[in-house]
Amino acid sequence: MKLISSISDFQSWRQACSGTIGFVPTMGALHSGHLSLVHKSNSKCDLTIVSIYVNPAQFTPGEDLSNYPRDLEKDLEALSKFQVDVVFFPDDKQMYPQGFSTFILEDNFSHRLEGKSRPEHFKGVLTIVGKLFNIIRPSHAFFGEKDAQQIRVLQKMVTDLNYNLQIVPCPIVREANGLAMSSRNIYLSENNREKAGVIHRSLKKAEEMLVQGYHSVVEIREVVIAMIKTEKQIRLDYFSIVDNISLKEIHDNIEGDILVSIAVFFLDVRLIDNFTFQMDK
Ligand code: PAJ
Repeated sequence: MKLISSISDFQSWRQACSGTIGFVPTMGALHSGHLSLVHKSNSKCDLTIVSIYVNPAQFTPGEDLSNYPRDLEKDLEALSKFQVDVVFFPDDKQMYPQGFSTFILEDNFSHRLEGKSRPEHFKGVLTIVGKLFNIIRPSHAFFGEKDAQQIRVLQKMVTDLNYNLQIVPCPIVREANGLAMSSRNIYLSENNREKAGVIHRSLKKAEEMLVQGYHSVVEIREVVIAMIKTEKQIRLDYFSIVDNISLKEIHDNIEGDILVSIAVFFLDVRLIDNFTFQMDK
């Protein structure tokens, strides 16, 4: 496992590579969710590259950029159990040198769901991932369905800007109580993590209603909100059902391929979760 922090050093190493190159971009504080992507890359590609970079451009003012969890030693220890050829961990000066002024903006999907609560978020994500794709030049890039909208927006960027690579979506990895794993879960006490299990349970309930043939967003939302309200420290940011292709909000009658997502604040910790569902007519 080679550790590279400079872009030019990485590019020199990259020149000698052949075969398929799997890329797993992360912001560190690695957990089993991240590691499942590394595992997937190992099974699909000849080489695996993991990046660790906390990208300031994707944090909205007032968010947790300055105290976002960072522990490179621990991350490297976790990655050493896998076949990782390079860990690339650039710093801010390299990724955003003084005078940096070019950004990537997707002008449709980015404004929906997370984009409403975090307006500049996807501009930051696309810019950094676009830059990383140019530096790493992977054949495959692995992303978690936990950030379902992130995958949709990145897929759009890859298509629209002709990146020559395949995006590989990977399933959500969860804690024993169903809570989707997240680097931000470490902000929660053990007890609160247990309580946060209600987020997943509320989505399971929504799924159960869909299976039973409920077509009304209003009815499903009511049940989900009531469940979330049972935990006093949790505040709903949004619960949303959108068309899984267009990401357009469904307000009334649910039909077709849908994405059901939720975002909450547990105290001041923002947590998200989602699932997809195919509604029979
Ligand atoms: P980060 O939150 O560190 O996540 C890195 C990757 O791990 C993303 O693709 C995310 O969807 C995936 N992931 C996180 N939790 C997961 C879980 N419980 N199950 C499965 N996959 C999970 O997402 C980012 O960083 C950044 O936006 C990034 C793409 C690195 C750009 O800065």
